[in-house]
Amino acid sequence: MKRIPEPFRIKMVEPIKMTNEDDRQAALIEAGYNPFLLKSEDVYIDLLTDSGTGAMSANQWSALMVGDEAYAGSRSFIKLEQSVQTLFRYQHVIPVHQGRGAEQILFPNMVKHKQCKAPVFISNYHFDTTAAHVEMSGAKAINVLTPAALDTCQWDDFKGNFDLDALSKTIKEHGAENVVGIIITITCNSAGGQPVSLANIQAVAKIAKENNILVVIDSARFAENAYFIKQREQGLSQTPLGDIIRSMFTCGDIFTMSAKKDPMVNMGGLCCFKDDSQLDLFRDVQVSCVPMEGFITYGGLNGRDMEALNVGLWECADEDYLEYRIGQVTYLGDLLREAGIPIQYPTGGHAVFVDAGKLLPHIPAAQFPAHALANHLYLEGGVRGVEIGSLLLGRDPDTGQQKTSPFELLRLTIPRRVYTNDHMKYIADCLIAVAANVDKIKGLTFEYEPPVLRHFTARLKEIE
Ligand code: F0G
Repeated sequence: MKRIPEPFRIKMVEPIKMTNEDDRQAALIEAGYNPFLLKSEDVYIDLLTDSGTGAMSANQWSALMVGDEAYAGSRSFIKLEQSVQTLFRYQHVIPVHQGRGAEQILFPNMVKHKQCKAPVFISNYHFDTTAAHVEMSGAKAINVLTPAALDTCQWDDFKGNFDLDALSKTIKEHGAENVVGIIITITCNSAGGQPVSLANIQAVAKIAKENNILVVIDSARFAENAYFIKQREQGLSQTPLGDIIRSMFTCGDIFTMSAKKDPMVNMGGLCCFKDDSQLDLFRDVQVSCVPMEGFITYGGLNGRDMEALNVGLWECADEDYLEYRIGQVTYLGDLLREAGIPIQYPTGGHAVFVDAGKLLPHIPAAQFPAHALANHLYLEGGVRGVEIGSLLLGRDPDTGQQKTSPFELLRLTIPRRVYTNDHMKYIADCLIAVAANVDKIKGLTFEYEPPVLRHFTARLKEIE
């Protein structure tokens, strides 16, 4: 099994508590069988998210000291703006406090500018806050993911791709005049951190152009996506990563970024415009930024945060780092696969997605097999993962019925530069131990079900 050693040495450590089984049992009952309600102190290895949980480098920490905290026009903003212009070739830069900050100032303005009757956004797959902001702006969110993503066992190089036929059909069905934007999510989080090929990005941009539709790149994991392209796409293995990044971004008109992922800051984001072609929209987004995020040159960020982000943007696009990063996630995926545990294959960029639907066939979707698996993984070894399935998807607001989820997945999300390969081995050992007694795991039902975004605060109990 290929193990790529960490390309860093550890200068500072944060102790984590080793817990025992009795403690974990008590903590999980206290948390209503919902890992979201656990105290992080009761977690040994936290794989809830890769968002804001990365370890900053010595260079990022030292950059904090030179932050310029001026309210307007700070030096730190200007540096960040120059980095965005060089790395992505996007001219206009608005900092925001995180990804959803960009969504909340951008989408309502896009809808306003489109001036249509029945606005929709189309994406390979909208992330959940992205879909929420689309809907809050009065539009519908439609996903047209490649069907290859649904077959978790079958290798496909680019399971994050758009289904191009479905895209064209959806545009026709709703009328191009109603399609406010096409959102290209790189990598595609909801499909398993799966990449979108450059050819697919280019084809989407062509369709968008023909139909006069704006392209927004949701770019939280842009560097991981570029790395996969370099590894897998024909004719690009010798292309410098920076060129691949610019080739991806030139296909968009606007990009939003949660900088809490690839660029490894604890908080931060961006909303950027390629050129002057959308100058009116850009200005309106700036206007919205002021009351909602903060003045246009800080958008909810400290000057020092912008310094750390500026460094992180370059560090995350380093190929040695990415080889280790993707390699570590693949290593965990390979350990699980070798033990016969079904996962979304190939392993994605930021997480291993365990196919709990397949692993726990005795638990129906409505009893949340992936959530039950998450609980047992926690009980086994203090490892906290997160359900991506029926519990997360929730009910149809009109009928009150559980929506049908295409997957029941347990996401083991790997924070960047935080855990070692030995931690990966430990996580695999825990899950393999759980899988050996899988038929003892029981389904779950609600003790308390919140009306919206229920997975965060629901309380559950086991069905006897
Ligand atoms: N877009 C994608 C693809 C994301 O994965 C996220 C966040 C966002 C937008 C929103 O960014 O959190 O900075 O406001 N994903 C996190 C996750 C929360 O755990 O996958 P944000």
